[in-house]
Amino acid sequence: MTSNSEAAEGTWVRGMTEEVLVVPPLAVAVVAAVLGALFGGAVLALRIYAAMTRGVCTSAASMRGKTVLVTGANSGIGKETAKEMARRGARVLMACRNQETAEKARAEVLATAGEGASVEVVPLDLSSLESVRACAKRVLQSERRLDVLVHNAGYANTFARKLSADGHELTMATNHLGPFLLTHLLIDLLKRSKPARVVVVASELYRLARLDPATPLRPRALPAYLYYVSKLANVHFTLELARRLEGSGVTANCLHPGMIDSGIWRNVPFPLNLPVKLIAKGFFKTPEQGAQTSIFCAVSEELEGVSGKYYLDCKEHGLSAAASDAAVAKKLWEKSEELVGLKEGDPRI
Ligand SMILES: NC(=O)c1ccc[n+]([C@@H]2O[C@H](COP(=O)([O-])OP(=O)(O)OC[C@H]3O[C@@H](n4cnc5c(N)ncnc54)[C@H](OP(=O)(O)O)[C@@H]3O)[C@@H](O)[C@H]2O)c1
Repeated sequence: MTSNSEAAEGTWVRGMTEEVLVVPPLAVAVVAAVLGALFGGAVLALRIYAAMTRGVCTSAASMRGKTVLVTGANSGIGKETAKEMARRGARVLMACRNQETAEKARAEVLATAGEGASVEVVPLDLSSLESVRACAKRVLQSERRLDVLVHNAGYANTFARKLSADGHELTMATNHLGPFLLTHLLIDLLKRSKPARVVVVASELYRLARLDPATPLRPRALPAYLYYVSKLANVHFTLELARRLEGSGVTANCLHPGMIDSGIWRNVPFPLNLPVKLIAKGFFKTPEQGAQTSIFCAVSEELEGVSGKYYLDCKEHGLSAAASDAAVAKKLWEKSEELVGLKEGDPRI
């Protein structure tokens, strides 16, 4: 007979050549039940979250006569945002780093928008300060107006740490420093086109981050955590930008698009990527659904003159106390000015 403690802990049995752990069926059943309950709970929570985060932009506002620049418009929610801007009559600048996928996406955007649509691809690698400057120069040379600047492009890595061409941590360089510099270089054009809007695609994951504005590049943190920090930087940047642009006719708002089945998960390594893919396909929003809040922030009449807000599912949403800390935002702004190397003659905000 087996004692109670053996039933719970299993018994080591010496076989012909090795020791084998014989696990009692009761223990297997208990572990299976607990795992099943946890998995079932997680699936249920995801289903509820997905069902509750399907806000749709109901504004029918036309964008005819307006110019909209969308970064990272070759895939995911950026491509869907570009399609919708073109469909509403805007001239669309798709600022992308991969010219091959950008041209394919441009063809899709043109097909959706129909005849007469004006859609251009502008090369932009946000992780390179030189590329950001080249992109801004090209836009300033070719465009007479810029009504909406959508900072959509984003990069995330789970474990791999990389540096940008300028020697900055790649996640913060792409998600914060590039957009920071691009906004500076285009700000005068935005002001001349007023009322104009800056829309920043952040993420609810900002809530998991802490940011020291003196060392925003946090070289020792895990890359996955750096993504959260970069999204917190997006929120600080938007709020500080809104404060600095008060009375200029240019507004700045940020948003969380929801959890979306898009390319943002592409750097999750094997085998972690398998459950992530399964969950994304089964429960996350499509890129078209995910683009709704970006579209809302870019076009909605309700947001005329509204600045410094955070949106989720096409509705205003509260921010954490840490993200609303104006002193941190100001310090981050000043540190970012230093990191992007603003030159004499560059516009200041
Ligand atoms: N998916 C989600 O669940 C989720 C949730 C919260 C927030 N977001 C945010 O939503 C935004 C859009 O992401 P997505 O979900 O649509 O993912 P996505 O399909 O991966 O799109 C990201 C876009 O950013 C571009 N990009 C990345 N690095 C770049 C660089 N250095 N220079 C220029 N463009 C660059 C990508 O271009 P390539 O094709 O060349 O890589 C791609 O077009 C991101 O800011 C992301 O942080 C997404």
